[in-house]
This record gives sequence, C-alpha cells and structure tokens, in this order.
Amino acid sequence: MDHVSSENARAAGDAQEVLVCVDQYAFPGGWIKPAEADARAQLSCEQLEDGKVLCFERVPYLLFQDDREFLLSQRQSESRLHKNVSYRPSRDVLRGAAGEPKERARLHEIMRKYSQEVTRFLKQLLAPYALDMALDFASFRPEEEEGRDLPTHKRNDLLHCDAFPTRPTNGHRILRCFTNINPTAPRIWNTTDAFSVLAEKYANEAGLAAFAAKGSAPSHPLVRSFKKAFGLKAVDHSAYDRFMLRFHDYLKDNRDFQQNCPKTRLEFPPGCTWICYTDSVPHSVMSGRYALEQTVIIPLTSLLTPDKAPIRVLERLAGKPLSRSS
Ligand SMILES: [Fe+2]
Repeated sequence: MDHVSSENARAAGDAQEVLVCVDQYAFPGGWIKPAEADARAQLSCEQLEDGKVLCFERVPYLLFQDDREFLLSQRQSESRLHKNVSYRPSRDVLRGAAGEPKERARLHEIMRKYSQEVTRFLKQLLAPYALDMALDFASFRPEEEEGRDLPTHKRNDLLHCDAFPTRPTNGHRILRCFTNINPTAPRIWNTTDAFSVLAEKYANEAGLAAFAAKGSAPSHPLVRSFKKAFGLKAVDHSAYDRFMLRFHDYLKDNRDFQQNCPKTRLEFPPGCTWICYTDSVPHSVMSGRYALEQTVIIPLTSLLTPDKAPIRVLERLAGKPLSRSS
C-alpha cells in the first residue's frame, strides 16, 4: 500500500476530546494536592480505560539531561546505535544496539534507569494498578517515522491497535507510556473512532466468529515439544490474542479504512509524555523521531471498568468467551 493521504478524510473530532492534559501531577512531588491523590489516580485510570490519552507537558519522572543528550547524539554522530533499541527489564537485556562496547554499555545503563524510573512514575500516577502492573519491554525509537520503508504490517503510519505476536495477553491490557525527547520537533499521531466502534464495524469481516468458534485450546503437545526441542518458548495464544493479531493486520490492509476513516491529529510536542491503552486506542505515527517508550501489562482484574476492555467488547459481539483464563 502506498503511503496514505488523509487529506480527504473527515476529522473524527477534536484532539481535545481524546487528550487529557494532566496538570495536577509533577515531578518530583507527584500529585500536587496529596488529599486528592486517590481520587485523581482513580480518575486517571478511568480515563485511560475510556480510551483517553493522558499527557504531560513536561517529563513527569527523572530523566537526566546528559542521558537525553547521549540518546540524541547517537544519530547525529552517525554511530550505528541508531535503530530501534529494546530493553527487557525482567532479564536486564538490551537488544538492537550496535556500536562500540562502551557506547552499548552506556545505552544499556540509560535504558535500565529509564525503565525503573518510568515504572515508579506509572505506579504512583496509576495507584489502583500498582500492585499487579507487570513490566513488559521498553524501547528507544530514534528513527524518523515519516516515509519509513517498511512492509505493510510493520508500518507505523497505518492506523492499528497493538497486539504482540510473541507475547499473548489473554485479554489483559497493553498500556504504554511514551516520551518525545526530541528537543525541536513534535511526534505526530493520528487516531480514529474508538475500538468499540471499529470492532462493531469490522470485527465480523475480520473473522471474529471463526476465531471465537475455534476457541482457546492450548497448542498440540507435539508442537509444544517441537518448540521446546529447538529452545523456543511454547506460547499459547487465546482466541482473543489470535483475533487481535488478525485485526491489526486487517486494519492495515484495509485501504478504504486507512484512506477514508475519520481522523484526529494528535501532536506531542518536545518534552511531552503521554500514556494510553494502545490495544484499544487506534493510532498511527505520522512523523517524529527520538521517542522513549515503556510498556506495562494491566490485568483485567485491576481494571475499574473491565466491561470496556477489548476482550469484553469482542466477547459481546461474538457471544462466546475468547480466553480460558479471563
Ligand atoms: Fe502501535
């Protein structure tokens, strides 16, 4: 698919209907009025579950200026440390970094610190989730997103909802926190109608009934032992996970949807941090470089309004459970 023009698409609504500017929380103190902390944390969770994007004008956690400059300098010096870098906090492993060992070690240290600090921030901001929040990967995204030449299903500039091929969630939620560390340029997203609207419109065509009918049986024992023999992790995908992966691809493949769906432009200026459930907030990245990102998984049992979760939306449409464990 060619790079999509959205010039003719009608606007989905005002960005202010999607963005919630959190001005009552600041680093290092947290909530400005401690007496309101519980109520504000609860409201923030509810807003996220309602499909809003929470944003902060300034970085609301500790990010050292010299670390930020190191990250920015890598691309400028044409070092090989320029592709997307991922950090796995549970194993303290850095992937995707090249360059000299000294540079890689510095990058590793920066990503470790970033992951720890942003997680501390998320647990304080979203206190109702703090106990059961599970840490997933973090990433540094230095590439310019505009005009990247990627295969259709990997393109970030096509609207989609996130689903992880290798890390099924069983209906638990994908919450992501981004920071634009670019000192001069904004990061630009588009969004469109809410997940529930897209699901109602497109889930049947994307094959929901067939995924629901097949159920969430674990993979065949032979497949499991084969994977084990080759050192691969035997991961069972629920019907929900399999459908969400299909829906991700379906939306990216759907030229009419990509060109003509209503769009809302979201602009994240330099220094901005924003948080949303990217499994239900449809998004495409139109431009921008140098973003930091941390993913956490929020269990369904921690949600304040679980009926709004994508798995529940899809189960209502399918009339069947889509996971054995949720
Ligand atoms: Fe995404």
